[in-house]
Amino acid sequence: MITEDPHSFADFSQGRIKHIDFEIEVDFTTRTMKVLAHYHLDHPVTGSFFLDTRAVEIERISQEGRDIPWVLDKQDEIIGERLHLQDLVQADHFSIQLTTSPAASALQWLMPKQTAGGMHPFVYSQCQAIHARSIFPCQDTPSIRFTYTANVRVPHPLKAVMGAEQVDQVESGESIVTSFRMLQPIPSYLFALAAGELAFRELGPRTGIYAEPEVIDAAAWEFAENEQKLKEAEKLLGPYLWDRYDVLILPPSFPFGGMENPRLTFLSPTTIVGDRSLTNIITHELAHAWTGNLVTNATWEDFWINEGWTTYAEWRITEVLEGSDIEQLIRYINGIYLRKLLARLGRDSNLTCLKTSSKDIDPDESGMLVAYVKGADFLFSIENAVGREKFDGFVKRYIEAYQFKSITTEAFLSFLQKELPEASKQVDFEEWVYQPGYPESAPVLHSQLYDEVAQAVDAYRAGARPDAGSVGSWSGRQVFQFLFMLEDQKISLEDCQYFEALFGLEESSAVDILTAFYLSAIPAGYREIRPGIERYVKTIGREFYLTQLFRCMVKTDWTREFARTLFEENRARHHPITVKTINAILTKAGL
Ligand code: BES
Ligand code: ZN
Repeated sequence: MITEDPHSFADFSQGRIKHIDFEIEVDFTTRTMKVLAHYHLDHPVTGSFFLDTRAVEIERISQEGRDIPWVLDKQDEIIGERLHLQDLVQADHFSIQLTTSPAASALQWLMPKQTAGGMHPFVYSQCQAIHARSIFPCQDTPSIRFTYTANVRVPHPLKAVMGAEQVDQVESGESIVTSFRMLQPIPSYLFALAAGELAFRELGPRTGIYAEPEVIDAAAWEFAENEQKLKEAEKLLGPYLWDRYDVLILPPSFPFGGMENPRLTFLSPTTIVGDRSLTNIITHELAHAWTGNLVTNATWEDFWINEGWTTYAEWRITEVLEGSDIEQLIRYINGIYLRKLLARLGRDSNLTCLKTSSKDIDPDESGMLVAYVKGADFLFSIENAVGREKFDGFVKRYIEAYQFKSITTEAFLSFLQKELPEASKQVDFEEWVYQPGYPESAPVLHSQLYDEVAQAVDAYRAGARPDAGSVGSWSGRQVFQFLFMLEDQKISLEDCQYFEALFGLEESSAVDILTAFYLSAIPAGYREIRPGIERYVKTIGREFYLTQLFRCMVKTDWTREFARTLFEENRARHHPITVKTINAILTKAGL
């Protein structure tokens, strides 16, 4: 048996899923989905066919009314179960009837009180990286793409949305059935479904936004520039091939800033801050429509192909829309994140390589930021070596050559070598991609906005606190930078109090700024933030920030025990992915 993807049981030589027709019934009372899926393969299969699955209850597998024998014959803690369809005879289609588990790792079921409106339940999926298999058996690898249709039944007055085109909506009795079709082939991790009380607002001819009615106005204002962003992205990356670009605002427990589900980015409500300052997340998720969704990493070991490229594109588009000083500031800040991560993992850790070997690592837990920042900087190094004009031509050719395909790191490097042979004379591909750490030859940044804050940090280290006058003109990003740079420093209780007042942190809901402050104030022993931390853990679902907070709390005496209690109190609020990660941090710390 050839297994091409270490995170999947799929055997590509048996055949590939090409299309799936779904009937899905969303049941909030049992927190399950009843799924009837009709699979169509690329060619008739005789003998065995393997699918990935996890914790679904399979009722029946059949072909034209005849039962197909099956077994779950392999199990793995990380990748789940192998569903083995047996004795197929020239089968190019079959059907599976199943019910998902209430604990399906791809789904979060929310009680009404966990939503903005407080009246209706909500459910949403998050399939990246390997969670689609907990909704329906599939070849759950980014190397295999399929088209689909779906009829989704939800109770009245809820609305179902998918990362797909909505073609019809019919009310029948107590429920509403919405029909979708996805004509562009997607890998399983981009399958996306949500249902709740949702309003819709048009933003432009190709763009719109879904959110609970309570937040739709604020959301529509925050993301009013999406149509323009889409046009700008097309200039760098080529035509947008997914027809529409809509956004769905999720309830607060959504574990990420954003998720690039095709046609419908899923977005954390923490991005709605009232000043459009966090809309770079849209730039990022939108860029994925090309880098990630059109040209997809072949396995999760090639994750940087998705995220490094997307981060590169995000920063290029940000440079056009917000100017190079802000773009460079953002890159500086990400550079600090990366340095801190390298310090934590160790510069010689294999997790700091762009191409990772994650056979025994859950893709939810790898050193994610490396793929983003080191990946983008690798591409900037190549751009610097060959010049922007040449590189821009390469970007478009790359996307066109590999659209709707999956690509390994090695295939990318040979395409690069063929298209831009001069690049490898100046940039050490081998060092960037296969060596741990961060190359000395990384691009040099220039930002006055950054320098201004860095000087204030130096002055503070020398004993002079910044005053209200000097920080008055700082953007939220600069406030963040200041607090973030303090983190390695022991600061006094008095200074904690001073910064809290200076930056209005008690009233702040900016998750990045609050996290940076807590990461200094916790080790400083500033106990006044305890109610703030409680509110934070109750209302913010973003795993990236919560894990930093909890890692800091378990290292500090006064917050150690409190960390476990606080987590247990809020466990039910958070997404299964987040719960798993935080629980691992606590357990590892002996709590
Ligand atoms: N695709 C990622 C989110 C993701 C990564 C989900 C790995 C599951 C596994 C998404 O595009 C992303 O990177 N989101 C970032 C925002 C971005 C601006 C860096 C996030 O959520 O913080
Ligand atoms: Zn991303």
